[in-house]
Amino acid sequence: MDSSVNITILGPGAVGSLWACYLQKAGHNICLWTRNSTPSEQLLSLSANENSSHQFKCNDKQALNDCDLLLITVKAWQVESALLPLLPSLSKETILLFMHNGMGAIDDLKEHINHHPILQATTTHGALKENNTNVIHTGYGNASVGPFNPLGKQCQFIQDVLNHSLPSVDWNPEINIALWKKLAINCAINPLTAIHQCKNGQLAQPDIHQYVMNICSEVHQVLQEENIEWTENELVSTVTQVITATSANYSSMNRDCFYQRKTEIDFITGYLLQRAEFHGISAPTNLSLYNQIKQLEENTL
Ligand SMILES: NC(=O)c1ccc[n+]([C@@H]2O[C@H](COP(=O)([O-])OP(=O)(O)OC[C@H]3O[C@@H](n4cnc5c(N)ncnc54)[C@H](OP(=O)(O)O)[C@@H]3O)[C@@H](O)[C@H]2O)c1
Repeated sequence: MDSSVNITILGPGAVGSLWACYLQKAGHNICLWTRNSTPSEQLLSLSANENSSHQFKCNDKQALNDCDLLLITVKAWQVESALLPLLPSLSKETILLFMHNGMGAIDDLKEHINHHPILQATTTHGALKENNTNVIHTGYGNASVGPFNPLGKQCQFIQDVLNHSLPSVDWNPEINIALWKKLAINCAINPLTAIHQCKNGQLAQPDIHQYVMNICSEVHQVLQEENIEWTENELVSTVTQVITATSANYSSMNRDCFYQRKTEIDFITGYLLQRAEFHGISAPTNLSLYNQIKQLEENTL
């Protein structure tokens, strides 16, 4: 029996290209969907444990019509503008799988997409798109995938598809909890490393670590109101572990600010602040970081 899945990848940047290569290696039919309609074919070289080369169809309307899975790997702030124009071309059975950092990007799209099975994923893999044709698997990690809506609950087989391609991927029926935990860690690390233009490891310095603790304290109040069972100690110790394990890395927000690109702050600290306001929680440290990043964006974009 042919168990290959027809997959279109919307936004083949670093993460999208990484999955494109591994999914094709595993035998699935992959089409890339980019911002511009030419060229109609794209060659990608994957640098990983084993280097490999891959040829993909690009912006193929028939492949989009026929895809079983649309894997959306644009940045959080690009989701709406990238996805809405494609919706009329999709079958209602097409599964939408969102893989980006931050939260809230699909909340406002619900009425447009809720007739599709919807999945969300979070990943700790590292990927770097060196140029148009080279993607580097910079760090091996894992991924979790789970349902966003009731139709998504019937699509657990997608975990197998992903797990056979780039393990390990687990199925998390409560993916919202995993997304909140990732967001909490991102709130503690990303804005500070972007504002101070430092590597993650520098957040362990005593003068700056106090800020990390203040952020965690505010974030934890919001987590409690969102019914995410994580003690403040667990949050702080996870953040500390991530800072240690990634001490030599630059966070994605650090890189976005360094290269004067728009950041995902609205879907990380911005989302936290929205939920804090909803619950009547004051979060002055996070608000100050949010404003500083917005100011940096305003000065450079
Ligand atoms: N890279 C990592 O190691 C990593 C790890 C974990 C999580 N993440 C998260 O994964 C998400 C993607 O990150 P990334 O590093 O892969 O970003 P990226 O390299 O910037 O990839 C995004 C891609 O989407 C494309 N795009 C934007 N708008 C589009 C549109 N309207 N139609 C088609 N394509 C469009 C971009 O094209 P252009 O080049 O034309 O703008 C780019 O190729 C982010 O939320 C990030 O935080 C990344």
